[in-house]
Amino acid sequence: MTLKARIEAAIAHSVSVGRGRGAPPKLADALEYATIPGGARIRPMILLSVAMACGDNKPEITNAALAALELIHCASLVHDDMPCFDDADMRRCKPSVHRAFSEPMALLTGDSLIVLAFEVLARVAHHDLKRVAHLILILSQRTGMPGGICAGQAWESEDVVDLGAYHRAKTGALFIAATQLGAVAAGQEPEPWEELGARIGEAFQVADDLRDALYDVETLGKPAGQDDLHGRPNAVAELGVQGAIARLQAILSGAIASIPSCPGEAVLAQMVRKQAERLTPVAPSVNTARPL
Ligand code: IPE
Ligand code: IPE
Ligand code: MG
Ligand code: MG
Repeated sequence: MTLKARIEAAIAHSVSVGRGRGAPPKLADALEYATIPGGARIRPMILLSVAMACGDNKPEITNAALAALELIHCASLVHDDMPCFDDADMRRCKPSVHRAFSEPMALLTGDSLIVLAFEVLARVAHHDLKRVAHLILILSQRTGMPGGICAGQAWESEDVVDLGAYHRAKTGALFIAATQLGAVAAGQEPEPWEELGARIGEAFQVADDLRDALYDVETLGKPAGQDDLHGRPNAVAELGVQGAIARLQAILSGAIASIPSCPGEAVLAQMVRKQAERLTPVAPSVNTARPL
């Protein structure tokens, strides 16, 4: 089974738990709509790659962890698109959940996915109680307050924004969760894996800023030019396109250098390089309507 197939199977299995007997049909449909098909699945791919590099000796726990992480990510996108946040009509090349279903359904979809993520972890606790408790702790800390994605989104409502804290919490938190959950799922300590997650998160944020500035709505599958529109501080405004690309490459080199020593170190470095290539914007898709 390829890594991608394993990830999709684990996510589909988790979503089916929320589709149990007696479920209200619209909410059950909305849970699936918000999660399948997915986007790039970069977080579960990083989690699985780290777990495999560390031996992946309890695959049921790894599968639950990667699905739980992606459910949290999908929930955050559903809420982020709602009118009270970014009011976005499109996500992953189709109408956002609140447009396809309704606003109350979008709120409940996000809530249900967050709760489902922790249920999915609790359901594999019999494989290793201590490991699963540790996974639940890490995932909750990277989801909520004071340093998770809830905190990240909340910075957008503050009068004075700490840009570093905003990016670390909004984007970095789930990348740190990805590397640390992967390590813990395979029985390793999480601390040595924080730097790799933080660096990939930082690179991802720069790449996201570049894509937002350079690509159009068709290429992105979601609204473009949002940073400019909402007046958000971003890497392209700060460094220009070439400067942001150079910064992206520098962060990714640092990410590779920070990989802790483990049996699968070389394969993991290869995965980070592959993600780096995928993240770096390519010239032909550049939206020439916008000055570079
Ligand atoms: C988008 O994340 C949200 C941000 C943190 C910027 P992704 O670009 O990983 O979204 P999908 O899952 O691939 O759609
Ligand atoms: C979404 O951030 C991040 C979270 C929901 C935590 P953005 O609003 O910057 O990302 P997009 O452009 O909608 O994907
Ligand atoms: Mg947003
Ligand atoms: Mg948004």
